[in-house]
Amino acid sequence: MGIRFLSTGAGLPEKIITNADLEKIVDTSDEWITERTGIKERRMLEESEATSDIALRAARQAIDTAGLQPDDIDLIVVTTCTPDHLFPSVACLVQKGLGISQKIAFDVSAACSGFLYGLACVEGMIEKGLAKTALLIGADALTRFTDWKDRGTCVLFGDGAGALVIQACEGPGDLLAIHLGSDGDSSHILTIPGGGSKHPLGQIDNVDKYPPFIKMDGKEVFKFAVLRMIESSMTALKKCGKTTDDLKLLIPHQANLRIIDAIAKRLKLSHDKVFRNVHKYGNMSAATTIIALDEAVRSGQLQRGELAELIAFGAGLTWGAAVVRW
Ligand code: UT7
Repeated sequence: MGIRFLSTGAGLPEKIITNADLEKIVDTSDEWITERTGIKERRMLEESEATSDIALRAARQAIDTAGLQPDDIDLIVVTTCTPDHLFPSVACLVQKGLGISQKIAFDVSAACSGFLYGLACVEGMIEKGLAKTALLIGADALTRFTDWKDRGTCVLFGDGAGALVIQACEGPGDLLAIHLGSDGDSSHILTIPGGGSKHPLGQIDNVDKYPPFIKMDGKEVFKFAVLRMIESSMTALKKCGKTTDDLKLLIPHQANLRIIDAIAKRLKLSHDKVFRNVHKYGNMSAATTIIALDEAVRSGQLQRGELAELIAFGAGLTWGAAVVRW
């Protein structure tokens, strides 16, 4: 038994924050952000919205595109590191929004690599017979955990959600190979220090020391990202007996255009074989790779039967790659 991919969907907040908007609040410039990251604008939740709202929007679009009804879904997995609440899970809130009951719903957390971790979970649960038709969602709202005084991080992130409908099938299916990795020893280089059980929000007496905002060693993360995504990409391709020549499209995590270009160069992939939308959205964490897949499919850059490889890295540290047939 395998899994096949039926459809994708996206849920993006309407509000757009441009580099010019950021110039008004921190000491930065459109020139610096464009040159160092490739980002021109990003989306941001309205005050009244939360992660589950955009996740639900993505879910509805993916279910409609598949020609299914919400009730056909028997498993909902949301990958997120910015849930509405510590509990209940975003998956249960999406389930409520879809008006379906008696299903399995839970969240997975692996930061920006979350979507690939979620994919492995869904494949395993379908193989074990726990579900037949699953909804896998990547949804994050990192602008809620951004220090708007820190120009080193506040220009990088945006909010978004993407969804993939996955169904059990006979035969090998559309997920050809998956590779995942993590390294807790480097957890400190990308973290949100405050707001969890270690330094609960209500008890933090030194917010500067334990801020509920992203703290990052950008240079270290950059090096790690390039190295691990290349390794992971090659490992997943080898696992299924493919090479980069077999790929129609590489869909990398969209954190920084320079990271994407460095990987494309090392993997010897031409410009048209590497998907890029970082200029429109910045880094949307777990939503990034699935929104990129959704856009690649809707724009015709990836057609039925063609091979793509999704690669990602993120806090944890975590990383992974998946070779898929669309
Ligand atoms: O999913 C994982 C998420 N994280 C990432 O993917 C981050 C990976 N790392 C990166 O993308 C890059 O390291 C950054 C974009 C974060 C930074 O680029 P960089 O080329 O490594 O710059 P830098 O940190 O070495 O900073 C160079 C200069 C510094 O000034 P000085 O010390 O040379 O005077 C910074 O203070 O640029 C300054 N700088 C800025 N200037 C204008 C840092 N941020 C900004 C800014 N605007 N927004």
